[in-house]
Amino acid sequence: MCTKIVIYFNWQPNSLRGKIIFAEIEEMTAKDFIPKKYSEEIREGKVFWQSPSNIALVKYWGKRENQIPANPSVSFTLDYCKTTTSLAFRKKEKPSADFDFELFFEDEKKESFRPKIEQFFKRIEAYLPFLKEYSFTIHTSNSFPHSSGIASSASGMSALALCLMSLEKQRIPDMNEDYFNRKASFLARLGSGSACRSIEGELVVWGAHETEGSSDLFGVKYPYEVHENFKDYQDVILLVDKGEKQVSSTVGHDLMNGHPFAEQRFEQAHENLIKLRDIFKSGDLVAFTEVVESEALTLHAMMMSSRPYFLLMKPNTLAIINKIFNFRLKTGLHPCFTLDAGANVHLLFPKKEKEAILNFIEEELVEHCQDGQYIKDEVGAGAKKI
Ligand code: DP6
Repeated sequence: MCTKIVIYFNWQPNSLRGKIIFAEIEEMTAKDFIPKKYSEEIREGKVFWQSPSNIALVKYWGKRENQIPANPSVSFTLDYCKTTTSLAFRKKEKPSADFDFELFFEDEKKESFRPKIEQFFKRIEAYLPFLKEYSFTIHTSNSFPHSSGIASSASGMSALALCLMSLEKQRIPDMNEDYFNRKASFLARLGSGSACRSIEGELVVWGAHETEGSSDLFGVKYPYEVHENFKDYQDVILLVDKGEKQVSSTVGHDLMNGHPFAEQRFEQAHENLIKLRDIFKSGDLVAFTEVVESEALTLHAMMMSSRPYFLLMKPNTLAIINKIFNFRLKTGLHPCFTLDAGANVHLLFPKKEKEAILNFIEEELVEHCQDGQYIKDEVGAGAKKI
């Protein structure tokens, strides 16, 4: 009997750990994030967080009320592309009727960001009831160029959520790390869905799934076995179009309401997550490519077949994709593309193939990038307090 237990632990340590974690989070509801009472009175202070962007392998596309995703997703957390945010806070004599904050982006006051932050504060007020008691000064900056066509909402919203959590933690000093991360992800999700996958690394899963046991409320570190092949995975972002997004994510997600293929698509995301679980375990790079590229193309196919319809790939996006197909055939190496809701291409590949693939990028792909620009990134460990 005893031996049996030991063998079970040796054989399936990660899947067992995953099951325990997921059984615990499945029980959680939004109410668990409403604080009961604050034990400390904090008058003023300043906190800093650095939070990364992430790249989805199974895409979140379509949502319900309160930022609940229509399907589960999984992403690699990035390392280089990140937002640094500081939050200075000072307690007021009495709470104000409105949220009281000033926002600076790269040291310049940024009025255009106000509505998004205002909306974020409104959505999270029930979970951070102290918000109107303080006046806040927020400074934020990105590691990637402003006009790179890279959305900063995931890194930006997660960094701000983490700063607010640091203030809450000062008021509840015995808060544990799991709760801190889950609530930071829960809050970040209310700012921007994909932001909830930026708190931890290196793979994060978000969205309820029948057999995976993950949650719609927040992202969690992928708890199952991950093969060596996926450690230190590389992501080179080929900047095909550095302009503003043609379709905002709010509009994009909305296109899935009443979309003729929506239900099949949501189902497919569930199936792809199951496929990836085996792939992460076995390290099968060919199967990985098949799932990830199909996810990217399906996302774009959804936009092409919605009403109104959008074509977000550019000729250079297709030129890059075709060259990737040819390069794979010629070399047997494993560069794999994915796309967000835009024309830029994320080229994912294992670290051991880095040299050959960076040469390929320089020799064949750079000519398709706007101003020859691309960003070298890789999988990272998640947000950092600084
Ligand atoms: C295509 O997280 O930007 O990048 O919740 O409306 O802020 P909102 O949407 P957002 O959507 C990201 C969509 C995506 C796919 C993904 O990251 O999973």
